[in-house]
Amino acid sequence: MKEKIEKLRHELNHHNYLYYVLDKPKISDFKFDSLMRELIKLEKRYPEFFDPLSPTMRVGGGLNESFETVQHISPMLSLSNTYSKKELVDFDSKIKKILGQKFVDYTCELKYDGVAISLIYKNGLLERGVTRGDGVCGDDVTQNIKTINTIPLKLFGDFPSFIEFRGEVFIKKDDFNKINQKREERRMTLEKEYYKKRGLQSSSNDIKLEKQYLTNLKKNENYANPRNFASGSLKLLDSAKVAKRNLDCIIYSVHGVNLPFNSHYKNLLKVQDWGFKISKSTQLYNNVNSMMDFIDSLELQRESLPFEIDGVVVKVNNLIDQETLGHTAKSPRWAISYKFQSAQAYTVLSGITYQIGRTGTITPVAELNPVHLAGSVIKRASLHNADFIKKLDLKIGDTVLVEKGGDVIPKVAEVDIAKRTLLCQDIIFISECPSCNSALYKPSNEVNFYCLNSDYCVPQKIARVKHFIGRDALNIHTLGSKTVVLLFQENIINSIADLYDLSVNKLTCLKGFGEKSKSIKKAQNIIESLENSKAISFERVLYGLGIRYVGKTVAKKIVNHFLSIESLISSSREQLLEIDEVGEKIADSICHYFKQSKNISLIEKLKLHGLQFNTHSRQRKSNKLQNLIFVISGTFVVSRLEIKDSIEDNGGKCNTSLSKNTNYLIAGENMGPKKKELALLLGVPIISQIELEKMLK
Ligand code: IVH
Repeated sequence: MKEKIEKLRHELNHHNYLYYVLDKPKISDFKFDSLMRELIKLEKRYPEFFDPLSPTMRVGGGLNESFETVQHISPMLSLSNTYSKKELVDFDSKIKKILGQKFVDYTCELKYDGVAISLIYKNGLLERGVTRGDGVCGDDVTQNIKTINTIPLKLFGDFPSFIEFRGEVFIKKDDFNKINQKREERRMTLEKEYYKKRGLQSSSNDIKLEKQYLTNLKKNENYANPRNFASGSLKLLDSAKVAKRNLDCIIYSVHGVNLPFNSHYKNLLKVQDWGFKISKSTQLYNNVNSMMDFIDSLELQRESLPFEIDGVVVKVNNLIDQETLGHTAKSPRWAISYKFQSAQAYTVLSGITYQIGRTGTITPVAELNPVHLAGSVIKRASLHNADFIKKLDLKIGDTVLVEKGGDVIPKVAEVDIAKRTLLCQDIIFISECPSCNSALYKPSNEVNFYCLNSDYCVPQKIARVKHFIGRDALNIHTLGSKTVVLLFQENIINSIADLYDLSVNKLTCLKGFGEKSKSIKKAQNIIESLENSKAISFERVLYGLGIRYVGKTVAKKIVNHFLSIESLISSSREQLLEIDEVGEKIADSICHYFKQSKNISLIEKLKLHGLQFNTHSRQRKSNKLQNLIFVISGTFVVSRLEIKDSIEDNGGKCNTSLSKNTNYLIAGENMGPKKKELALLLGVPIISQIELEKMLK
């Protein structure tokens, strides 16, 4: 009988592997279930042949009283992260330098977003499964992981007598969504029941009933995300419950003394023969470009994958090389994870500060507990205006969802009202300028509050200079924000025009300008940028003046229409309105600006310094891009405006959003994944700036 039981166990393990690991079942579910029932029956009848690793044990049932803490054989390290291609290039160069090799093979693997697990096998039998814990010690969750069908209870074939596998336990998106859907249905039933019962109860019972209802609702709240669900599941005391949760497991590394190969990749293939699931996507590469292509294509596929990933792990393939490279206290030097930008995160609003813009606009700013979001740590986000705060129903102390609006600017998207406590405080919008104490003014037709003290309110003056020296305006990039503030503090400048009276001497004498040894070079660079800015086109100078509502496009239209500052200054409101894109608001703002003598005298001063205040109508350089529509996204070595100019100078057109009419998407660094996805969907070719330049040659 023992043989019969053993044979059945072996058969069931084999079919379990074919079904769950290889996804190639050979028998029907019905047949599988009947074999299982037969085994259960025999095991019951012959308890002397009990085996804790029998496939019948996968249904769980063993209760964990608590989880024993176990020390890992070697620490479960974490991975160093990057969000940039440049850092991946640096990683590759560093590896090659340390190894003294021209070519290094890397595996590129999916970074599963689940919970790490260590699995120990002795003589091919599952000995224990341990969570990562603090990396040194974890919890023994063997009872629970036995229920995961993609973790073999016994290894197949030949194997080292002692071997450890590390991998990720996760739940597929579909399974997770189904679970949450069921919870939602359950909550709806609870609601119906509650209202029905409440109608029957006397009011004295209502409180008890309501409490019970709320407790039940809480118990049936949706799980937040698949990762938390997976880690929570491994810590359930009742393994039968775990068995029902459809957890899955993928192995990403194998550890031991007698591994079959010195190649991580080949070992992974062997891991599949031993009975585990490995990722089908893993690839071997020996150059960064192919790795980047792999990463890009996975970022696009990310949404459509049946499980959550949050990046790609790049690992040196050769195990001897891995050993040579070693690890730091936290992470191995032979691996790096390229994380995809996560677009949303929760954090706490710790306070509100107010920013004063160049036109006196008061912008409330959310001060946030630092949170990692899409490649950077977010500490602040604009709240736009008082209405925005009101609409969000925001209070200080609230938990808020922040997201990267568009590509880079973080915004507060919503408040998690459920997390609000009594300690949260109302936000009372200020009524005086936080810098100069002038009473704030709110035009009746606007949502913004303004400080009208534009001549004396220092932050406004600083903001005007910062705008003027910005990349899209006069591009005086060598002059940093800190220096601008210093120049104001020391009363060396008071307006934009004063910038052109700066000298190397004035700058180097500035307290806090920087280390002596470097300060002369730094000052020379600033003076050089100021000189260069004198050649910058009129449209960018006009934009740099910071006239309210005159953005880059409007500035360009105005310049192309009037050609010189003199004709612009003497233009009437009606003449301004003739320009397309110039509406009443813009026309009024321009008229208002030139009516003020201080602005005219600023322009005179700038003219004397040699800045460009007229233009000859733009000469078209070629028709090479005639009838082509481009969308530019991401950051480039040059400003986006320059790229736009060169497209337009060659007959092309630029749009801000993608449509089926777009001919090319020009992609820079950190282009939003959504844009990329949409371009692919619409069949719009994605090209680099270099490819655009090639088109112009
Ligand atoms: S290798 C030394 N490969 O990412 C660390 N980890 O911080 C070796 N993860 O929680 C880990 N997919 O569980 C590796 N293909 C993969 C992975 C992966 C997901 C998880 C891992 C850990 C985190 C690393």
